[in-house]
Amino acid sequence: MPNTPLSSHNQFDNKSQAWSARFSEPVSELVKRYTASVNFDQRMAHFDIQGSLAHADMLASIGIISAQDLTEIQRGMGQITQEIEAGQFNWSLDLEDVHLNIEKRLVELIGDAGKRLHTGRSRNDQVATDIRLWLRHEVDTSSNLLRILRHKLAQLALQHADTIMPGFTHLQVAQPITFGHHLLAYAEMFGRDAERLADCRRRINRLPLGAAALAGTSYPIDRERVARTLAFDSVCRNSLDAVSDRDFAIEFCAAAALIMMHISRLSEELVLWMNPRIGFIDLADRFCTGSSIMPQKKNPDVPELARGKTGRVYGHLTALLTLMKGQPLAYNKDNQEDKEGLFDAADTIRDTLTIFADMIGGIQVNADAMRAAALQGYATATDLADYLVKKGVPFRDAHETVALAVRHCETQQCDLADLTLATLQSFHALIDTDVFEVLTLEGSVAARRHIGGTAPERVRIEAQCILDEKQSND
Ligand code: ARG
Repeated sequence: MPNTPLSSHNQFDNKSQAWSARFSEPVSELVKRYTASVNFDQRMAHFDIQGSLAHADMLASIGIISAQDLTEIQRGMGQITQEIEAGQFNWSLDLEDVHLNIEKRLVELIGDAGKRLHTGRSRNDQVATDIRLWLRHEVDTSSNLLRILRHKLAQLALQHADTIMPGFTHLQVAQPITFGHHLLAYAEMFGRDAERLADCRRRINRLPLGAAALAGTSYPIDRERVARTLAFDSVCRNSLDAVSDRDFAIEFCAAAALIMMHISRLSEELVLWMNPRIGFIDLADRFCTGSSIMPQKKNPDVPELARGKTGRVYGHLTALLTLMKGQPLAYNKDNQEDKEGLFDAADTIRDTLTIFADMIGGIQVNADAMRAAALQGYATATDLADYLVKKGVPFRDAHETVALAVRHCETQQCDLADLTLATLQSFHALIDTDVFEVLTLEGSVAARRHIGGTAPERVRIEAQCILDEKQSND
């Protein structure tokens, strides 16, 4: 009804809602703020434009819009990109979200060609596409950061392949290990984290566009073309699923939660190691703060905060799972709530990994303190038992013999290696002078040279493998 008074309720007429002439009264200010997402989804603007350009290119290729329209759209989007980058774009709450804000500006700039852009598309498949493009970029960034962090761990491990520390179980001294080996345990964890990101990237990288609102579109669209333009591996095979499920975002949050879990374990150790009673390491001053009241304090704030931030990422995973669980097909506005948690999860792992890569590279190691701690607590007791086993003693008997020797040491307040040969022989006649090779810390770690063992020789091989890994993100 172009000539009735209703025409003043044209789409994008600021006096009415952004989406339709169907409504007779405006929403309240609070409802407007409640339902709008522009304050947070504007950070997807770059990807929204990228998606729109790919869609327009496809519409032109099948003759739904003219080549002239496409050129206009490209020109308009170029200007909008500049405005956004210059901080001059006027984001409006009235226009609800990033999609309508950009489209409105496009129409302002280029007129009718701008109004043709939304042909064969809905905000439902548009937003699903934007999130996937945005998340793919985040996955690539964080995968790269994991690689850098693993390199820093491997470099430090190479430097400390021979540095001996106590290994713990139950947080009690168990057996001597090398500090390099301990660091490489984290490199393994972060390696699996990178695999998880690469895996979830495969399912992120599918194109929802073309699903339109929920049922697809009657235009003869070329979805494969759009997928190629946007470097998606494939297209989503069901329009209802494409616009509604956010399982890919949940997978990402699960991977992010595991990254933070590993970061948090490492943080806990860094905090412990920095305690003056332990004193294994020192962190560079730029990752610590002092106390406003206790002048002697140097607090490991960064690892503490990282440990704390782990909780919020777990929270985002739980929130997204809960967001999704009650939704019938297809799109529901609930899904607008997917973004803030997802953004925060991605921001948290990106910032944390960046800081940790820097912090690990600057760790000061106190090898003497590590060694002194390894010498306390009978860390080579297992080696003595193994020594007896190799001489033909059944393991359980050897275990008992060593337990008695340890008890003797406790009363004498000395280490196993401090006992004389005669004393050791009083516990078992098969003990000979060669026992002292296994009772030393060096002998103990060097013996564990198999794949996965703590020997300096093995640590050097494993660290070098990580340093030699190729630089790609796959
Ligand atoms: N801002 C919306 C979101 O984030 C975009 C899609 C809105 N679609 C709709 N039919 N209201 O999910």
